[in-house]
Amino acid sequence: MNGKTILVTGGTSGIGKALAEHLVNTGHRVIITGRNQDRINQVAQTLGCTGYVADSANPAQLKQLAATLQSDNIRLDGLVLNAGVFYPGSILTTTEEAFDLTMNINTKGPWFTLQQLHPILNNPSSVVFVSSIAVTNAFASAAIYSASKAAFEAIARVANLEFAADGIRINAVRPGVTATEIQSKAGMTTEQQKALFASLDQTALGRVLSPDDQIGAIAFLLSDQSIAMRNAVLEVSGGYGL
Ligand SMILES: NC(=O)c1ccc[n+]([C@@H]2O[C@H](COP(=O)([O-])OP(=O)(O)OC[C@H]3O[C@@H](n4cnc5c(N)ncnc54)[C@H](OP(=O)(O)O)[C@@H]3O)[C@@H](O)[C@H]2O)c1
Repeated sequence: MNGKTILVTGGTSGIGKALAEHLVNTGHRVIITGRNQDRINQVAQTLGCTGYVADSANPAQLKQLAATLQSDNIRLDGLVLNAGVFYPGSILTTTEEAFDLTMNINTKGPWFTLQQLHPILNNPSSVVFVSSIAVTNAFASAAIYSASKAAFEAIARVANLEFAADGIRINAVRPGVTATEIQSKAGMTTEQQKALFASLDQTALGRVLSPDDQIGAIAFLLSDQSIAMRNAVLEVSGGYGL
């Protein structure tokens, strides 16, 4: 897998950043997106890649991203729809605003990113959806998050048919609990994070996952090795819930 051009949404931290770093180090041209210009600039400079602000919850920014890339004659061999959030909330107390925020970032965002970037996806190209084991495992206070990722996976299934003639393949990874900023952004205290991570000692792997643990599956799906795969779901959970 040499010299591909790959865009990673949400490349400023966690899984997206670790993946972007790996892809740069293995000879690819990498483009990252995020919400914060300063953060994007800092990460892009450190990693040696390009970065753009494109809020997943803002279709106008996604349209602008596509227009900018098109005007720069950029074509993509790979697209990783990784940007995502986890804002916990029980079914009984969640507001409409909170519901919409998660769905806008985790489901609507990937939809419009795919729609807008479709014209610059090469034939062949690989789109990787970063989903979650929350699609198949219940976690308290994670109903919206689970629903947002399940809907996101449903989009992939149909997109594989609609984009078949364009040589675009879409597959997904489902990370298990991975130590990233997502836990603190979810409002978890350091103590709560420690307790969560310690509970992962019970998995077959025997520890919490790191962003680096997620790289292999995504890089494989981006590579020509996955050329015949459509709608595959690779779970990288350390054996959570076996
Ligand atoms: N960590 C886990 O346990 C876990 C488990 C299963 C699945 N996942 C999934 O893995 C993906 C990456 O999560 P992570 O754990 O690496 O979290 P993270 O460290 O918080 O990284 C999330 C990335 O997405 C970006 N992002 C968030 N909202 C965005 C928006 N509206 N528009 C554009 N970019 C946005 C963030 O940018 P900012 O710098 O602006 O925040 C950041 O770059 C997510 O889709 C998540 O649902 C994570």
